[in-house]
Amino acid sequence: MITNILFVDDDEDIISGYRRMLHSMRNQWGLYFASSGLEALEVLGNNPMDVIISDMRMPGMDGADLLAQVKKEFPQILRIVLSGHQDEMRAIRATGVAHQFNAKPTTTEIIKNTIERAFFLRNYVQNEKILKLITGIGELPGLPEIYIKVEEELRKDDVSLSQVARLISNDISITVKIMQIVNSSFFGLRMRITDLLQAVTFLGINTIKAVILHASLFSSKRFSAASRRYCEIIANHSMIVGNIAKSIAIQATPQQEVHEDAFMAGILHDIGKIILLSLPDYEEKVNSESNLKNLSMSSVEWDMYGFTHGEAGAYLIGIWGLPGPIVEATAFHHIPTKLEDNQFTPLTAVHVANGFVNTPIKNFDKIKNIRESGIVLDFSDYIDIFPSIDFNYLKITNSFSKFNDWLEIYFKFLKQIEDSNE
Ligand SMILES: [Fe+2]
Ligand SMILES: [Fe+2]
Repeated sequence: MITNILFVDDDEDIISGYRRMLHSMRNQWGLYFASSGLEALEVLGNNPMDVIISDMRMPGMDGADLLAQVKKEFPQILRIVLSGHQDEMRAIRATGVAHQFNAKPTTTEIIKNTIERAFFLRNYVQNEKILKLITGIGELPGLPEIYIKVEEELRKDDVSLSQVARLISNDISITVKIMQIVNSSFFGLRMRITDLLQAVTFLGINTIKAVILHASLFSSKRFSAASRRYCEIIANHSMIVGNIAKSIAIQATPQQEVHEDAFMAGILHDIGKIILLSLPDYEEKVNSESNLKNLSMSSVEWDMYGFTHGEAGAYLIGIWGLPGPIVEATAFHHIPTKLEDNQFTPLTAVHVANGFVNTPIKNFDKIKNIRESGIVLDFSDYIDIFPSIDFNYLKITNSFSKFNDWLEIYFKFLKQIEDSNE
């Protein structure tokens, strides 16, 4: 599928620069150019467009006005700002008219990456269905302000973790959450960490970014009291899945990047439910259908909307520009074989962690009882005990041999919960 992209800049030299630079992409992209806001709107009126990449400072209608207009008239178009000025980018961020921001000068590689991430899902689902529905919902949650500030800090040549910690300390609820996580039993620390900088250093910057997203998105105040309760349940569930997924990843691979991606993906995997909450009676409808027909939530969603909360969430975080493995894990956490991958990835960790957390406690008791009687459980027993885990997928990804170790991780977690309740 060809992606249509419109570049807007009043500087003719820059426009011809784009033409030259992007020449090699002409088979994959439909390239359009405009030298003013008005011309851009005219192009949009006559051609179906997927992406608009606009300069900010232009005579007449400036970039912010143009994108505000695009947001209103063509909400399905991905809006990207290109700017050479930090202050300008900060100001435009506050208006919420753009999905993404890139610094000038840019390269084909950067533009390609941005667009591929945002449209990654096109290969898997009928994007139009999600688009139509999300357009109907209106405004999508943007990246939290503090997240953007932390990213800005990290882009600096002389990046400083103490400055990151200082930024975060302005937000009490995020600070509290980080301290809770670093001191939770998951990390098995012998000493209590009381200093935010130490916590940031210990957890790693990607984990911190994940916590910021989690704290901001799930504390959303735009929902009714009933939805807020549902939000809270998903928030707690996601935090547990994130931690278990990270522990699984640590057991499975020495790559720290995968550990951190597994955590972030786990913490965000159900974010699509938060988007779908804006639909009339989403929760009640899906719940009652799934109880009535004894179907999983995601198959009911698929029947009702043509996509699940997995794809809806992946669509959102794709637009935010989060890394591919996180988008994939979110999209396919219920049906992991859709990714067609044959190795352990953050998706594997999230699929298993989510499967454990969604399994009734009585099934774990069953495992304990069988083990105590001296019987060794095998593949077919596990299929019965964990209906939401795809064991064939674990075989394809050479992960089944590790399953018992992962189960131990979860048993340890259950024991901690039990102990803390006593
Ligand atoms: Fe889910
Ligand atoms: Fe989940």
